[in-house]
Amino acid sequence: MDADAAGDGERVSAAADAFAPLADGGQPGWYRDAVVYSLDVKTFQDSDGDGWGDFRGLIDRLDYLENLGVDCLWIRPFYPSPLRDNGYDVADYRDVDERLGSLNAFDDLVAELDARGMRLITDLVLNHTSTEHEWFQRAREDPDSKYHDYYLWTSHVDEAYHTENIFPEFEDGVWSYDEVAGKHYFHQFYGHQPDLNVANSDVQEELFSIAEFWLERGVDGFRIDAAHPMILPKGHNAHRLEDPQWLFRELKRRAREVNDEAVLLAEADDEPDRLDFYFGDGEGFDALFNFVGNSHVTYGVGVGDSWPLYRMFEQIPDAQPDGHVWWANFLRNHDEWNLLKLPHDALEHAREEFRKGGDGRDSWVFGRGHRLRLADLYDGDHDRIAMAHSLLLSLPGTPIVNSGDEIGMHADLDRPERQAVRTPMRWDGAEPNAGFSTADPEELVIPVDGTGWPGVFQADAASQRGDPGSLFERVASAIDARKRCPEIARGDCSIVHVDSGDMWAHRFDHDGRVLLAVHNLASGPREVVAGFDVDPADAERVLGDADYRVADGGVTVTLDGCAYLWLRGERRGDGGR
Ligand code: GLC
Repeated sequence: MDADAAGDGERVSAAADAFAPLADGGQPGWYRDAVVYSLDVKTFQDSDGDGWGDFRGLIDRLDYLENLGVDCLWIRPFYPSPLRDNGYDVADYRDVDERLGSLNAFDDLVAELDARGMRLITDLVLNHTSTEHEWFQRAREDPDSKYHDYYLWTSHVDEAYHTENIFPEFEDGVWSYDEVAGKHYFHQFYGHQPDLNVANSDVQEELFSIAEFWLERGVDGFRIDAAHPMILPKGHNAHRLEDPQWLFRELKRRAREVNDEAVLLAEADDEPDRLDFYFGDGEGFDALFNFVGNSHVTYGVGVGDSWPLYRMFEQIPDAQPDGHVWWANFLRNHDEWNLLKLPHDALEHAREEFRKGGDGRDSWVFGRGHRLRLADLYDGDHDRIAMAHSLLLSLPGTPIVNSGDEIGMHADLDRPERQAVRTPMRWDGAEPNAGFSTADPEELVIPVDGTGWPGVFQADAASQRGDPGSLFERVASAIDARKRCPEIARGDCSIVHVDSGDMWAHRFDHDGRVLLAVHNLASGPREVVAGFDVDPADAERVLGDADYRVADGGVTVTLDGCAYLWLRGERRGDGGR
């Protein structure tokens, strides 16, 4: 059989047939077949030479994204903002930051994506605003204004509820004094991000109507930022929402009234046994970011051991092809690589094993994670990064590729805090800005990182595209394979036992067919036997160039270090799983 046969020639675009409606009917299924690409407009492509990425620049780069094979974009906050938390400090929910474009440019992006059959998800930050938001300005100036109750205040901070701030290295607690109001206000994140009083029905109405505003402009759904902090105790009396699920249910109901295919993906990094809650029996979020999976899968691949993968499957509710549980899987995101979901020993190990920098440029932040990119965690090993993406794309759930990881971009620890992992996209080898912008490097929103790590090179897109062995093309082949395997979103997933702790195998059963994915987490070659109840003549290679032999209800696979193989075929009548 030809090497990586499926990756050759023309890529097959979304092959998935229409997704069968879920059991309770009427739920959209498109997001379960989607491959999502997460990017920040301001660091993706500058079209007008002012040093800021913008919507026009993104539109100019859609061919690249289509070529990669992704069919849904998740764009991080692009709203007017003082940018003290990368735009997660929103000053106006209904506009575009003028450095990134305009509402017209946003509309053009929507139209262009539509024409290409691509979807758009935007970030909605509903837990807090910027202190520069008009609501907060009015709230602090006038205690009688309705906006005062949009936030949470206390005049007796010593008696107020205290809890740990989410950014403990930067904030002492959850209360800051406001000179104008003469009171303290509550904030779980930075002091410039006052929490909204989400129990206030006026606030709730505002939030619903913000969602409607963007849906009417054509977005397909939202990443709901900080969904867990939204429902935690808030304010002086540690007030909790009476029915927190109602808020999410109602948000979805209102969203679906505008667009019946709208989806809500939640950033709900809660304890594993609490995750089911956010799905609300199908009336809550459509998918949750899989933080348990993120720490375990990325760690397991990094240390070449499969136990974290087993543990991940044990800890979280199973994705349900015909039910409401669904995961948005990712290897890295734009924040720190948060390790809190690992067992304590593994967290300690990961802290030291993956640590880079030092002397004020340490990668370890917030006492919980590394501000490093995938390429840093895997020491620039493109074979390992490609294998991690193959695994990501084969897991039950919707895969999210983090912009720049498909070419192996590195972090820049000279940048403050999480900016290290948010440097602009490196398009080519052009000096000085790697194709991101023609502006003076001093003018850039964030400097382009040209350094990489000692001994490893800093990647760019142009040098990889078209080279079949490149990371970009291998990630693109894995995305293409995912598109040709609609059974991943529809099949029953199960772990396939293999006799080697540095190998991982899992399968999907759907409609009498089996899809088996085998990943070699080790750096050296391995041979394994995995159960595969398919006739030898019927076995079809989907992805990967490993040798295999199907016989007697099993398959023997010989894989180089970090290699992977996806195989499928019709299940034999005699079973034998
Ligand atoms: C989310 C974002 C993070 C941001 C925080 C506060 O966790 O991913 O970047 O700092 O919310 O909005």
